[in-house]
Amino acid sequence: MTTALPMPTLSAGTAGLHLEGVALASIAERFGTPTYVYSRAALTAAYAAYQQALGERKALVCYAVKANSSLGVLSVFARLGAGFDIVSGGELARVLAAGGDAGKVIFSGVGKTAAEMRFALDAGIGCFNVESAAELDRLNDVAAAAGKRAPIAFRVNPDVNPNTHPYISTGLRSNKFGVAFDEALDLYRKAARLPHIEISGIDCHIGSQLLDPAPMTEAAEKILGLVDQLGREGIKLDHIDLGGGLGIRYRDEEPPTPSIYLKPLLDCFAGRDEALCFEPGRSLVGNAGLLLTRIEYLKPGVEKNFAIIDAAMNDLARPALYDAYHEIVAVAPRAVPASRYEVVGPICESGDFLGHDRDLSVAAGDLLAILSAGAYGMTMSSNYNTRPRAAEVLVDGDAVHLIRERETLSHLLKGETPLA
Ligand code: LLP
Repeated sequence: MTTALPMPTLSAGTAGLHLEGVALASIAERFGTPTYVYSRAALTAAYAAYQQALGERKALVCYAVKANSSLGVLSVFARLGAGFDIVSGGELARVLAAGGDAGKVIFSGVGKTAAEMRFALDAGIGCFNVESAAELDRLNDVAAAAGKRAPIAFRVNPDVNPNTHPYISTGLRSNKFGVAFDEALDLYRKAARLPHIEISGIDCHIGSQLLDPAPMTEAAEKILGLVDQLGREGIKLDHIDLGGGLGIRYRDEEPPTPSIYLKPLLDCFAGRDEALCFEPGRSLVGNAGLLLTRIEYLKPGVEKNFAIIDAAMNDLARPALYDAYHEIVAVAPRAVPASRYEVVGPICESGDFLGHDRDLSVAAGDLLAILSAGAYGMTMSSNYNTRPRAAEVLVDGDAVHLIRERETLSHLLKGETPLA
C-alpha cells in the first residue's frame, strides 16, 4: 500500500486488509458481501477526540443519528454517554432501542409532525430545535394536549457560506433550514409568551463536510450577538448548539481535528455559563466504516474496463448522488500490474458507479473495500432494483458482531399484496 489509508483502524496484514484485529476476508466468508464493516475502536476514538477537545467545558456531543443509525453503532455512543441529534420519530425509536438517554436527545428538522412531537414529549427529550413560527405554534398545541411544556431552541440561519457541496450546505438564506436571523428575536419573544413552551437554547448548523473552521466561527459570532441581545431582554438560555458539519478525509482532504475546529468556537463562548452542544455525524462515523464487496465480473472494453461488483448505488448512494469520492482498495492485491477500472454495480443506470478510473490489481472474485463509508452509507441505502440491503458488522478487537442481518427477499416483499 503506497498511500496512507484514510481509516485509522484499517491496516494491511499478511492475510490482506484487517479492520482492528479482523481480516476482512474472514468477514466476507462468514457473512457474505456486500457488508458494511465498522470499527468500534475508530468510533470510540472519534468520540474521544471531541471529548478531549471540549475538556472541562460544560458541553454535550449529540451524535447526528442520520449519519449511521444502526442500533449497534448507536449503542456504542450511548455507552460513551453521548447525546443524540435526531430528525424523525423513527430515529428517536432507534436511540431508545439502543439504550440512549432521552434527556440528551435534541430533535432537529423542518417538518416535525404532531405525532412525532408527542412521541418525543412523552419520551422526555432534551430539546426541540424549532425551525419555523408555524412549528412553534404546533408544538405549543401538542404540548398543551399532553399537559407538558416543550423545551425549545430556535435553529437560527446565520446566512454564512460554508463552502461545501451545494446539496449539503444548509446555513444560507436561500436554504429551507432554520429561522431567518433577523426574525429570531421576535420569535423568541413570542415563544416566551407561550404557556407550553420553555425556552432552553439556540441552535445553528451551516452544512456538512466542512474543511475550513472559518465559516463556523463566523456563524458562532453572529449567534453570540443574538444570545447577548436575548439576555438583555431577560431571555436566558441554558445551551448553545453549534450543529455538526466537521469534514473527514475521503481522498486527500486535510480536515481540521476536532480540537482545531472547536478552538475558535470555545474561545467565542469562553467564560459563559451556557452549555455548548455539537451535532457531529460524519466525523464520528465516516472513517470508522467500509463497504466490503466482491467483484462479480471483470469486463474489459475498448474505452474503459469495468469491474462489476456486488455492491451498487442502492448500497452506497454518495458517488451517484454527489459525485463523491470513496477510496477503493483490493483486500488482497494480486502481484500483477494494476489495470484501470470503472468500479460499477449491477443496477440498470449509468450513474451506478462507486468509483471512476481506479487502478486495481485484481481478478474476478476478489474482494474490494470501499473506504470511508461509515457515514451516510447504510442510512441512505435503498431497495432499488429489489436488492436486499447489505449486512452490517461491528468489529471490536478480534471479535465480530453481526449488528444487522442481510435483508432477504421475504423482508422486501413483506406488506405488499398483488391484486386478486
Ligand atoms: N445537524 C443537522 C441539523 C444536520 O442537518 C446534519 C446533517 C448534522 C447535524 C450532521 O452533519 P455532519 O456532522 O454529518 O456533517 N448525505 C450527505 C450529508 C447530509 C448532511 C445532512 N445534515 C452526504 O452523504 O454527504
